[in-house]
Amino acid sequence: MAEIIEPFRIKVVEPIRVTTRAERTRHLRDAGFNVFKLRAEDVLIDLLTDSGTSAMSADQWAALMRGDESYAGSRSFFRFRDTVRSLTGFEHIIPTHQGRAAERILFATVCKPGDVVPNNTHFDTTRANVEAAGARAVDLPSPTGLVPSQAHPFKGDMAVDALEALIQEVGVERIPLCMLTVTNNTGGGQPVSMANIEAVSKLCRSHGIPFYLDACRFAENAWFIKEREEGWQDVPVAEIARRMFRLADGCTMSAKKDGLTNIGGFLATNDGQLARQEENLLILTEGFPTYGGLAGRDLEAVAVGLEEVLDEDYLTYRIASVRYLGEKIAEHGVPIMQPPGGHAVYLDAAALLPHVPRHELPGQSLVAELYLQGGVRGVEVGTVMFGHTDPETGREISPRLELVRLAVPRRVYTESQIKYVIDVILEVWDRRERIGGFRFVEQEPVLRHFTASFEPLYDLG
Ligand code: F0G
Repeated sequence: MAEIIEPFRIKVVEPIRVTTRAERTRHLRDAGFNVFKLRAEDVLIDLLTDSGTSAMSADQWAALMRGDESYAGSRSFFRFRDTVRSLTGFEHIIPTHQGRAAERILFATVCKPGDVVPNNTHFDTTRANVEAAGARAVDLPSPTGLVPSQAHPFKGDMAVDALEALIQEVGVERIPLCMLTVTNNTGGGQPVSMANIEAVSKLCRSHGIPFYLDACRFAENAWFIKEREEGWQDVPVAEIARRMFRLADGCTMSAKKDGLTNIGGFLATNDGQLARQEENLLILTEGFPTYGGLAGRDLEAVAVGLEEVLDEDYLTYRIASVRYLGEKIAEHGVPIMQPPGGHAVYLDAAALLPHVPRHELPGQSLVAELYLQGGVRGVEVGTVMFGHTDPETGREISPRLELVRLAVPRRVYTESQIKYVIDVILEVWDRRERIGGFRFVEQEPVLRHFTASFEPLYDLG
């Protein structure tokens, strides 16, 4: 088969700067060994997130010039609304500046204290917004989703029997909505099957519970359905995406992912009365309902991005480049969450550094080593991000998994840059036995991973 190539050519370039190991050691030390506190220009390949980091196309840049910056009723809003409507089928489209703004407005409107919101796995801002509204966020991943080494085509599925049991346990009146995150970011960027979306939709509808998609990576999810699920091979991805949305009653969306833009998002619903309440909240903090915290030009860029992202040549390249990274390192024995996700490869830090106990933060060690070795920035998704310090013993309590996420920005890095990342990971892998742990020096009580500082417990070399 012919090589899968980047289906674009490069028109504008942005230099990235190679640094020496000595410089990187100094930068990391100055940042308290926390890669969130590095200056981005001291990073060579930045895999911290796939959010807001996409390269826009020539058409998107051209669309910016069409942006109508009228306060009310701008042409750009109608273009945006019509694109989102034709993709999702939802009647009421509310623009927001990013995904979490849509989450805040949705949960503040529908949740009351004591309510319960099920999801395959809540992303951290989604959970935080559910909890800020006084409700409880419940994750119901399928059992196969919980075992990193075990490959399964749809590890993002929700456990439908667990959803049924939850509905019986707490009662329909305490579940204001049920959500599916496609793809499941916190669960390893794993897709949800159409069969699972259908089953969750059917169960919710039989109980009268509104069913929502957290649709940030809807196009990557649709691509996996076409590739892996019986009966969808000959259906265009755009059609699969439309079908996914039509099983739901509404969605939240961060256009910073599959909208292929640097900012933007929306909230959508078919419920007119709910939309009016949401628009009132929108006006309070985001803006008038025809711009919602965005400039007219941003609305234009999202409208173009939502169409480009469903291009099958793009998706073929996109999924192949993430898979290539995952498969190449796995071939050498590097333990990863299997199979590679749509937007990221997740290294299993606990399996990679088994001699580093969890309370000595093996994921943090791996993130530091990748930066020191080659200027590659990933993010720890383990004890630092989701653990906490036991107030009595002072020991670190770890979450179930200790992962490091390498998220690949869309249309940004070339194959040789991905090959470079593979080399860096393999160099770290080769010297893994000499890598030790870290400890916290300072930490804040909430979202500590963004601001904490650390100290190595071994000689960095
Ligand atoms: N839902 C999911 C599944 C996400 O991955 C994110 C963001 C959000 C909601 C919130 O969207 O950032 O536009 O407010 N994820 C980014 C990440 C930050 O790095 O995975 P936002």
